[in-house]
Amino acid sequence: MVSNVGVIGAGQMGAGIAQVCAAIGKKVILCDIKQEFVDKGIQTITRNLERSVSKERIDETDMKNTLGNVNTTLELSDLSNCDIIIEAIVENMDIKKKLFSDLGHICNDNTILASNTSSIPIGILAKASGRSEKVVGMHFMNPVPVMKLVEVIRAKSTSDLTFDTTFNLAKDLSKVPVLVNDFPGFVSNRILLPMLNEAMFCVMEGVAEPKAIDTVMKLGMSHPMGPLTLADFIGLDTCLAIMEVLHRDFNDDKYRPCPLLKEMVEQGKLGKKSGEGFYKY
Ligand code: CAA
Ligand code: NAD
Repeated sequence: MVSNVGVIGAGQMGAGIAQVCAAIGKKVILCDIKQEFVDKGIQTITRNLERSVSKERIDETDMKNTLGNVNTTLELSDLSNCDIIIEAIVENMDIKKKLFSDLGHICNDNTILASNTSSIPIGILAKASGRSEKVVGMHFMNPVPVMKLVEVIRAKSTSDLTFDTTFNLAKDLSKVPVLVNDFPGFVSNRILLPMLNEAMFCVMEGVAEPKAIDTVMKLGMSHPMGPLTLADFIGLDTCLAIMEVLHRDFNDDKYRPCPLLKEMVEQGKLGKKSGEGFYKY
């Protein structure tokens, strides 16, 4: 039974994960590396809840209770007694490995270490933690409060108890968990990201303007967002990191990141979060 949840990374995913856990009464500790990032995460949660109140989905008391269930910290050690920690930091293998290694030292023996990584094989993080039976993938979709899917990624070393607890937590959150085996990009991003990358090649080669490409996929294929709007929404840095994992780990050039994507990330054009990507915000 999960009562205390640690969430590491208070960006768009971490804030959403903290919100949905707090909304069902879990005690959440949200951790980031700087106070301004933690504050931004709390602002995101507050804004989402205010919107729900204005739409009469929840009332003021629900909002107060949810916010009251979220504490914040800059100290990893404050998470040591959590039942589960859900990691949602930057999509960088070395930084995540270091974090899992630290968590392996800090946490009590029963703490489950879950990663919201978009692409990095869970087995690698499991090994880094030194307690591989406790490590699992818990891959939420963006925006977390809205999207129903959670991929629950079972590494070879993941124990039944770790897997079942994580799967049941996703159900308690009113999500639909799906068991996925441990491959780079899992199911979601192995299929989604090559499509987004191809849309970027279409821009680079002058096949059509971004808006036209998005319109083709929205009206032609009934996608809720066009691929370039979605890439901006995910974050172009995250898109590039995912393509790099797929390219490297499958060693197949069909996953080569589009040069335009690399160029935009180098220029700091990260999509919605930086104010500019394929569109301006
Ligand atoms: N955070 C929280 N809630 C949000 C939100 C956000 N960023 N954006 C929209 N919502 C909520 C709205 O408040 C609204 O809620 P109510 O039903 O309570 O009114 C609901 O979502 C619908 O919003 P809108 O009517 O404003 O807009 P919409 O109908 O266009 O839906 C959307 C917005 C749900 C985001 C829709 O455009 C969509 O499904 N887009 C595709 C999202 C997607 O593909 N996500 C997966 C990305 S890949 C991933 O996550 C994995 C990875 O590792 C990269
Ligand atoms: P983001 O850039 O919005 O937020 C990342 C946060 O992690 C930042 O606040 C940053 O300060 C913090 N952080 C970085 N290093 C840290 C550390 N060592 N300790 C604590 N905090 C640290 O990123 P995001 O979009 O929220 O993505 C987070 C994770 O979720 C990534 O692994 C990403 O691949 C995955 N993910 C993203 C999406 C998406 O659509 N953006 C969807 C599913 C999964």
